[in-house]
Amino acid sequence: MPYVIAEACIDVMDRSCMDECPVDCIYEGARKLYINPLECIDCGACEPACPVEAITQDRAVEDGQDAFVDDNARFFALPLPGRAEAIGSPGGAAAVGPVAADTELVAGYDARG
Ligand code: F3S
Ligand code: F3S
Repeated sequence: MPYVIAEACIDVMDRSCMDECPVDCIYEGARKLYINPLECIDCGACEPACPVEAITQDRAVEDGQDAFVDDNARFFALPLPGRAEAIGSPGGAAAVGPVAADTELVAGYDARG
Protein backbone atom coordinates (compact mmCIF):
# COMPACT_ATOMS: atom_id res chain seq x y z
CA MET A 1 0.00 0.00 0.00
CA PRO A 2 1.55 3.32 -1.00
CA TYR A 3 2.15 6.36 1.08
CA VAL A 4 0.15 9.50 0.34
CA ILE A 5 0.52 13.24 0.84
CA ALA A 6 -2.46 15.01 2.39
CA GLU A 7 -3.74 18.53 2.96
CA ALA A 8 -0.91 19.83 5.13
CA CYS A 9 1.44 20.02 2.14
CA ILE A 10 -0.76 22.50 0.26
CA ASP A 11 1.04 25.83 -0.17
CA VAL A 12 3.86 24.61 2.12
CA MET A 13 5.76 22.32 -0.28
CA ASP A 14 8.81 21.87 1.93
CA ARG A 15 10.20 19.25 -0.53
CA SER A 16 12.37 17.47 2.09
CA CYS A 17 10.43 14.32 1.24
CA MET A 18 11.78 14.32 -2.31
CA ASP A 19 15.35 14.00 -1.06
CA GLU A 20 14.51 10.85 0.88
CA CYS A 21 12.65 8.82 -1.73
CA PRO A 22 14.87 6.07 -3.18
CA VAL A 23 12.72 5.67 -6.28
CA ASP A 24 12.03 9.37 -6.93
CA CYS A 25 8.27 8.87 -7.01
CA ILE A 26 7.24 12.15 -5.33
CA TYR A 27 6.12 14.62 -7.98
CA GLU A 28 5.70 18.36 -7.68
CA GLY A 29 2.47 20.13 -8.60
CA ALA A 30 1.72 23.84 -8.35
CA ARG A 31 0.45 23.92 -4.74
CA LYS A 32 1.30 20.44 -3.44
CA LEU A 33 3.35 17.31 -4.02
CA TYR A 34 1.93 13.89 -4.90
CA ILE A 35 3.19 10.32 -4.49
CA ASN A 36 2.78 8.05 -7.49
CA PRO A 37 1.01 4.98 -6.06
CA LEU A 38 2.27 2.74 -8.84
CA GLU A 39 5.91 3.70 -8.28
CA CYS A 40 6.01 3.96 -4.46
CA ILE A 41 7.71 0.92 -2.92
CA ASP A 42 6.23 1.65 0.50
CA CYS A 43 9.60 2.16 2.17
CA GLY A 44 8.37 4.96 4.44
CA ALA A 45 11.54 7.05 4.24
CA CYS A 46 9.59 10.16 3.29
CA GLU A 47 7.22 10.15 6.26
CA PRO A 48 9.53 11.48 9.01
CA ALA A 49 11.10 14.01 6.64
CA CYS A 50 7.98 16.15 6.36
CA PRO A 51 7.96 18.98 8.93
CA VAL A 52 4.18 19.34 8.76
CA GLU A 53 3.42 15.61 8.93
CA ALA A 54 1.57 15.56 5.62
CA ILE A 55 2.70 12.03 4.70
CA THR A 56 1.20 8.74 5.91
CA GLN A 57 0.40 5.31 4.59
CA ASP A 58 -2.82 5.40 2.61
CA ARG A 59 -4.62 3.32 5.19
CA ALA A 60 -3.52 5.59 8.03
CA VAL A 61 -4.59 9.04 6.87
CA GLU A 62 -6.05 11.35 9.50
CA ASP A 63 -9.79 11.80 9.86
CA GLY A 64 -11.15 14.02 7.13
CA GLN A 65 -8.19 13.35 4.82
CA ASP A 66 -9.58 10.34 2.94
CA ALA A 67 -10.10 12.32 -0.26
CA PHE A 68 -6.36 12.75 -0.59
CA VAL A 69 -5.76 9.01 -1.00
CA ASP A 70 -7.56 8.87 -4.33
CA ASP A 71 -6.35 12.35 -5.17
CA ASN A 72 -2.67 11.32 -5.12
CA ALA A 73 -3.52 8.65 -7.69
CA ARG A 74 -5.67 11.03 -9.71
CA PHE A 75 -2.72 13.39 -10.26
CA PHE A 76 -1.11 10.67 -12.39
CA ALA A 77 -4.10 8.83 -13.82
CA LEU A 78 -6.09 11.68 -15.35
CA PRO A 79 -5.01 14.61 -17.55
CA LEU A 80 -4.43 17.64 -15.33
CA PRO A 81 -5.97 21.01 -16.23
CA GLY A 82 -4.18 22.42 -19.25
CA ARG A 83 -2.59 19.10 -20.24
CA ALA A 84 -3.74 16.76 -22.97
CA GLU A 85 -2.39 13.55 -21.47
CA ALA A 86 -2.07 12.01 -18.03
CA ILE A 87 1.38 11.91 -16.43
CA GLY A 88 1.10 8.18 -15.90
CA SER A 89 4.18 6.44 -14.50
CA PRO A 90 7.24 8.12 -16.01
CA GLY A 91 9.59 6.32 -13.62
CA GLY A 92 10.97 9.31 -11.76
CA ALA A 93 10.11 12.88 -10.86
CA ALA A 94 13.49 14.33 -11.82
CA ALA A 95 12.85 13.76 -15.50
CA VAL A 96 9.41 15.36 -15.29
CA GLY A 97 10.29 18.37 -13.14
CA PRO A 98 7.73 20.63 -11.50
CA VAL A 99 4.28 20.33 -13.06
CA ALA A 100 2.51 23.69 -13.12
CA ALA A 101 -0.87 22.15 -12.32
CA ASP A 102 -2.79 20.37 -9.58
CA THR A 103 -5.77 18.09 -9.32
CA GLU A 104 -9.15 19.82 -9.15
CA LEU A 105 -9.34 19.08 -5.42
CA VAL A 106 -6.06 20.83 -4.70
CA ALA A 107 -6.32 23.61 -7.28
CA GLY A 108 -9.57 24.80 -5.76
CA TYR A 109 -8.67 24.05 -2.17
CA ASP A 110 -9.31 26.76 0.36
CA ALA A 111 -6.58 26.19 2.90
CA ARG A 112 -8.37 28.42 5.40
CA GLY A 113 -11.42 26.18 5.24
FE1 F3S B 1 4.97 18.58 1.24
FE2 F3S B 1 6.00 17.73 3.44
FE3 F3S B 1 7.02 16.95 1.19
S1 F3S B 1 5.22 19.78 3.07
S2 F3S B 1 6.68 18.68 -0.14
S3 F3S B 1 4.98 16.51 1.92
S4 F3S B 1 8.15 17.45 3.01
FE1 F3S C 1 9.26 7.05 -1.73
FE2 F3S C 1 7.94 7.50 0.45
FE3 F3S C 1 7.12 5.66 -1.21
S1 F3S C 1 10.12 7.50 0.23
S2 F3S C 1 9.01 4.88 -2.06
S3 F3S C 1 7.20 7.82 -1.59
S4 F3S C 1 7.04 5.58 0.98
